Amino acid sequence: MDRTRVIATAAAYPEQVITNDDLAKIVDTSDEWITQRTGIKERRISAGENTSVYVIDVAKKLLDRASVAAEDIDLIIVASVTADYGTPSLACMVQKEIGAVNAIAFDIVAACSGFMYALTTADKYIKSGTYRNAIVIGGETLSKIVDWTDRSTCVLFGDGAGGAYVEESKDAGLIREIIGSAGESYEILTEGYTNCANAFNDLQDYTDPKWYVYMNGREVFKFATKKVIKSLKELLEAEGLTGEDIKYFVPHQANIRIVEVIAKKLDIPFEKFYMNMERFGNTSSASIPIALNELNEKGLLERGDRIVLAGFGGGMTWGTVLIEW
Ligand code: UT7
Repeated sequence: MDRTRVIATAAAYPEQVITNDDLAKIVDTSDEWITQRTGIKERRISAGENTSVYVIDVAKKLLDRASVAAEDIDLIIVASVTADYGTPSLACMVQKEIGAVNAIAFDIVAACSGFMYALTTADKYIKSGTYRNAIVIGGETLSKIVDWTDRSTCVLFGDGAGGAYVEESKDAGLIREIIGSAGESYEILTEGYTNCANAFNDLQDYTDPKWYVYMNGREVFKFATKKVIKSLKELLEAEGLTGEDIKYFVPHQANIRIVEVIAKKLDIPFEKFYMNMERFGNTSSASIPIALNELNEKGLLERGDRIVLAGFGGGMTWGTVLIEW
């Protein structure tokens, strides 16, 4: 059976590093609180570049690393909750900048599960024979929708993008996925609300408070552990695998304590979970592809290795994907 194989990975992020101590200068927090409660030590914050800058950079690197011509790209999917525009999509901006004149391009909104949704959507197009290849990217500048006076959220997030070039393959590739949505819980994690009252009859210049990230951290924590544990269990069972058969789990980089709970509940060695949240914070849809690219760049993945990507986030959404490298 044809599979969708990851051929190349790439990442791009701001140069500016903001440490926990830097944040303690603007809100009532401390390095100790952030480190103990989240595992995050620093994050990359854009100095003014919008999301498209990082996403386009990733796309260019992917073409280079996969040695593919832009005109041969069939599909571009970008996952983001912080696109530059309502329209055009980031994917169409990528298409223009790399010259992928024969591709179709669109964005997906699934917050921190976005890369899982984008990757598995590309997989459907490829497995059906519609397209042969795709560029799939998750990218965010969360710094533009974070309330920098709210210590309960502003310490958590970072900016950046990561992605993969994937193509049809006869052997290795995506093996199984478990993707889910729970729209009934959408109110526990929101951002980017635009109020319709500010229209013809009520012209005012204001930003609705719900523009900024709002999160009921405890509820999201519970949701994340429950859904990831359940979907990982189901995924492994469906393939007749155990944690021992998986070389690396690449979880969404939101909170080290979430990963500790998952590892303990599933009796999987904590060391098998690849994490870089201490350096990047939570970059939403970019977190898993940035981590995956690090694994790849460090040469930690060999052909035939099984890895599992596990995202969860706003929507509420989740997605767990098993890949044979
Ligand atoms: O990417 C989308 C998915 N998002 C997630 O997975 C996030 C899931 N949730 C979490 O990671 C955690 O719930 C947080 C890290 C967001 C919060 O950790 P927590 O252990 O759940 O803390 P809390 O919200 O229960 O707050 C505990 C205390 C509160 O003070 P009181 O009421 O106990 O006096 C907060 O006001 O910590 C206080 N607090 C802070 N203190 C210092 C909240 N934020 C901060 C802060 N610095 N930055």
